[in-house]
Amino acid sequence: MAGQDGKIRIGVNGYGVIGKRVADAVARQDDMKIVGIADIETDWRIKTALQKGFKLFASVDERADVMRKAGFEISGVLDDLLREVNVVVDCTPKRIGAKNAERYRKLGVKFIVQGGEKHEVTGHSFVAEASYLGAVGRDSTRVVSCNTTSVVRTLTALKRAGLLRRARGTLMRRATDPWESHKGGIMNTLVPEDEIPSHQGPDAQTVDPELDVVTIAVKVPETLAHLHTWSVQLARKASKEDVIEAFRSSSRVALIRMSDGLTALNTIKELMADMGRPRDDLYEVALWEDLLTVRSDEAFYAYMVDNQAIVIPETIDAIRALTGRTREADISMAKTNDALGIGTLFVQ
Ligand SMILES: NC(=O)c1ccc[n+]([C@@H]2O[C@H](COP(=O)([O-])OP(=O)(O)OC[C@H]3O[C@@H](n4cnc5c(N)ncnc54)[C@H](O)[C@@H]3O)[C@@H](O)[C@H]2O)c1
Repeated sequence: MAGQDGKIRIGVNGYGVIGKRVADAVARQDDMKIVGIADIETDWRIKTALQKGFKLFASVDERADVMRKAGFEISGVLDDLLREVNVVVDCTPKRIGAKNAERYRKLGVKFIVQGGEKHEVTGHSFVAEASYLGAVGRDSTRVVSCNTTSVVRTLTALKRAGLLRRARGTLMRRATDPWESHKGGIMNTLVPEDEIPSHQGPDAQTVDPELDVVTIAVKVPETLAHLHTWSVQLARKASKEDVIEAFRSSSRVALIRMSDGLTALNTIKELMADMGRPRDDLYEVALWEDLLTVRSDEAFYAYMVDNQAIVIPETIDAIRALTGRTREADISMAKTNDALGIGTLFVQ
């Protein structure tokens, strides 16, 4: 149940790249609030959380003393946080979320895991435009990875317009996240994933099993974002305008133009900074309208995926779906978009 103020009470477990963005995005919604965040670290990132006024909990019981000794004021351990929330959003590193799921279930708390976990952890995979309804009232769901979110968003738009037969994409993946690039990542090379299809194609089918999609992934030596190129067999002959209209029907696909000088990932990031987006985040799939080419019944296009940001609006919608507070995807998405400033790119 919600708190006395009627707001959905949220805990965020794991205050890293995704967790800190989820916490800030929740704080911007008028129907939900952050009860606290949990982590195991004692570094600058956690100090920032405290500065923002978030209550801090120890994710792992044994870390509570270490955190206290490091001078952090903690409000308890994870179980204490779980007792106070309606939904916990698990943003811990890959595979830890699966272990935490047992704990969430034991305490009867609804939960969301992120794309590092397998579909089986919750039995439901979430992208707002494709699978919101299936998550309504469930105990848990998994917000799929950044790449998979972009694949499902774009292919769902084509499918809705009756245009999609099959899609084949090459995904150029950023090597590591910017804040961790001093720790590792590749240089002077490109590294193809070791199987075709790469995991994102099958992962998209956990959201929508009808998608005929194959992906090939390549790791590239940069940190800003991913770049996808797609070749799509359409269900019929179509015009460029038909395909653009299909993409335009999604509020989370932003059409951008090379002719505006947005010719590379860094220029789009700079646009986000100039727009005053938090952390320069691009929540939309940024798809080049003037690059898009249609020949008879085939479409070819490319887009940018801001891996650190794209899953944030989906996570907010997943919260509303699990609680059953908002039963229609469109209504939740409109609320989320409004709170995060999605749909305001001047170039559209
Ligand atoms: N980074 C991305 O671009 C991205 C994009 C989409 C989805 N995801 C997914 O989101 C999830 C979180 O990824 P991230 O990039 O935010 O990770 P991250 O490493 O940046 O953050 C994870 C946080 O969890 C904390 N934590 C809490 N409990 C822990 C424990 N028991 N052991 C270790 N650390 C613990 C860490 O200290 C850290 O602050 C993963 O499932 C990942 O696959 C990441």
